[in-house]
Amino acid sequence: MTYTVTLKSSGKTFQAKPSQTILEAAADAGITIPYGCRSGMCGSCKGKLVSGDVMLEDYQESALTEQEKSDGLILCCKALATESITIDIRESEEEVIKSKVTPVRVESLEKLNQDVIKMKLKLPGDESLKFKAGQYIEFIMPDNSRRAFSLANPPHEDLLELHLRLIEGGKFTQFVFNEMKEKSIHRIDAPIGQFYLRESEKPIIFVAGGTGFAPVKSVIEDMIFNNINRPIFLYRGVGKFEDLYMHDLSLEWSNTIDEFTYIPVSQNQSSNSDQLRIGLVHEAVLEDFKCLNNVQVYCCGAPGLVQIAFESFVVKGLPEDEFFADAFTFAPPKKLMHTDQMK
Ligand code: FES
Repeated sequence: MTYTVTLKSSGKTFQAKPSQTILEAAADAGITIPYGCRSGMCGSCKGKLVSGDVMLEDYQESALTEQEKSDGLILCCKALATESITIDIRESEEEVIKSKVTPVRVESLEKLNQDVIKMKLKLPGDESLKFKAGQYIEFIMPDNSRRAFSLANPPHEDLLELHLRLIEGGKFTQFVFNEMKEKSIHRIDAPIGQFYLRESEKPIIFVAGGTGFAPVKSVIEDMIFNNINRPIFLYRGVGKFEDLYMHDLSLEWSNTIDEFTYIPVSQNQSSNSDQLRIGLVHEAVLEDFKCLNNVQVYCCGAPGLVQIAFESFVVKGLPEDEFFADAFTFAPPKKLMHTDQMK
């Protein structure tokens, strides 16, 4: 049995099985609707249910507020059709690279500082992953749960590179830091996500909090490889200087690339504070730019950083559709609700 999903704007239709999310069914039909985390955490896949009914699986309240639910909004990555439906959501024009599950072998594990590990992964044989710089992968755990990590390497490199931060109480990162062995085999689903460079002549502001540097590194190295020359402002936010891994690489870019400005920002003073600005990374951007109406912003890090950067940058003139973000959190609260329970 399937239900028909109709997209209000284009009139396109596709079939969704009762066990499939709207996002999965759209992808199967070759239709791309916007998404980010695929886990009910970021809100990127929000659309309006015009008719019919859906069941919503677990999601995070920050991705869909009570008010939005009562206004008929749904998260397509968490909505299962329970009858034929019509939704109002913008379609993406971009080429879709369909993700697939593949085995990978851990080639190396290297500590970059006290709590960040660089992991390199190899696909079977001569295979390489086709992806856009800035996208992410999901590790599939033995219990089928998933952990998302951005790719830090540019697409022309064969080995996949991840930057993993040790999360207190985080089972997967504890496992990586304490038990994972080189040469071990795992499964990933990749590539995923809509965080990648959009064509434009505008200057780029990258705002990277912590390991949010990973996808930014991928995009910058891809720009270098493809000779894409645009003014770049790289803001990196950390808690203290010691958290600033790959600082030398960032300095090298600022010394060798024309119109590349690197601004590391630390929340706390430390012995090397003279090398950084002290404060919050989004506030450093607000201090440096009187107006943001003629730039693109690419922001990666904790959801709190992404949220406050978006809100404060839009107030300073940034067009909403020139802000691109990838935000991950780790454990959405349990929630299961039928849309007619929302009303
Ligand atoms: S993609 Fe649906 S909430 Fe993130």
